[in-house]
Amino acid sequence: MLLNEILSKYPKDEEYLIEILLEYQTSKKNHYISSEDVARISKHLDIPESQICSVISFYTLLSMTPKGKYVVQLCHDVPCFVNDAMSIYDKLVEVLGIKDGETTQDNLFTLEIGECLGCCNDSPAMRINDQVFTGLTPAKVEQIINDLRGEVK
Ligand code: FES
Repeated sequence: MLLNEILSKYPKDEEYLIEILLEYQTSKKNHYISSEDVARISKHLDIPESQICSVISFYTLLSMTPKGKYVVQLCHDVPCFVNDAMSIYDKLVEVLGIKDGETTQDNLFTLEIGECLGCCNDSPAMRINDQVFTGLTPAKVEQIINDLRGEVK
């Protein structure tokens, strides 16, 4: 979605900054807010660019760095950790060929270790873009990644 379309949906009030940033970032192919985007949002809301950059750097869900089409966020909080999230991480590293914080060369996947996704009762869990996967096993993870690769062929 174009930034102008998103900005027009919200009142010109900095109270809506995080909603605007999240909606716009989610709509972008590479899931990030560029410095040009920050400048346009700053002008629209009449707040300093530095304030917007501070908000982006504070919230782990927001980024000014381009990411892959699919952002894989593996929960690493205690319930997932004790339910063997590390074996899920190892499988993701194996099938994606990248580590935490990296993006595949084809820009398809970014891997991130993150915080609780609110599905602790069915851990380990991961989110890919806006879809959450629970009760993961290494085999299930490999299938999910292969299915996503199949979707883009
Ligand atoms: S601890 Fe992993 S989903 Fe809550």
